[in-house]
Amino acid sequence: MSLLAVDHVTQTYTSASRSLDVLKDVSFTVEPGTTNAIVGPSGSGKTTLLSLCAGLDRATRGHVMFAGHDLGALDEDQLAAWRSREVGFVFQSFRLLPTLTALENVMTTLELRGTPAKEARRLAAEQLEQVGLKDRLDHHAIQLSGGEQQRVALARAFVHRPRILFADEPTGNLDGATSRAVADLLFALHANAGTTLVLVTHDLALAQRTSRILELADGRIARDRVVEVAAS
Ligand SMILES: Nc1ncnc2c1ncn2[C@@H]1O[C@H](COP(=O)(O)OP(=O)(O)O)[C@@H](O)[C@H]1O
Ligand SMILES: [Mg+2]
Repeated sequence: MSLLAVDHVTQTYTSASRSLDVLKDVSFTVEPGTTNAIVGPSGSGKTTLLSLCAGLDRATRGHVMFAGHDLGALDEDQLAAWRSREVGFVFQSFRLLPTLTALENVMTTLELRGTPAKEARRLAAEQLEQVGLKDRLDHHAIQLSGGEQQRVALARAFVHRPRILFADEPTGNLDGATSRAVADLLFALHANAGTTLVLVTHDLALAQRTSRILELADGRIARDRVVEVAAS
């Protein structure tokens, strides 16, 4: 069974003056353990699509299925509980909570799931060590570089071992070398835990490291191809 199935999804934004179909009858599936890139011009609907897949928003029409279950059938609490179990999400702009330390940011994921504080602290510290930030546990976001912030965000997205990890332009705010390091980490986490990856990216080097590239144009799938994974 596919891990994720997007089935005839249309997303419409309506304002006072007009209604805009941002996604138009989009269908595709994502198989467990695969790495997938979504590419396309700015405004083509990539972020909208990722938000629907991650249960951050609901489709106007059509269905998003996770492991055979329709996300549309869940109420808000059930959807939040599903997200906290199964999903990790990484944003372009890191979105760490600035008043919390790196360790506390990573712990938030586990606290949402009801993990006791002591256990959450231990797991969060372990995960931060895995992303190379053992010496930064007590730093606040503002004291960290962009690359370090994104590594904290990866630890936060991954510490509960989600079945699927979504990342929206995860290297978009980083320079070349830092981008590459964050991408290496993303694929290492995938390789260690078998986590399914779905990445939105403008970064061709990143897209080419996935095994499948799905191109969006004007709210439709323009192309969907399985690619050779370059040896790295
Ligand atoms: N909440 C919203 N309300 C109205 N329009 C939106 C909203 N979110 C996105 N859009 C519009 O939908 C289109 C696709 O946006 P988005 O999914 O962010 O594209 P991308 O991530 O590919 O750049 C854009 O025209 C954008 O302005
Ligand atoms: Mg976007």
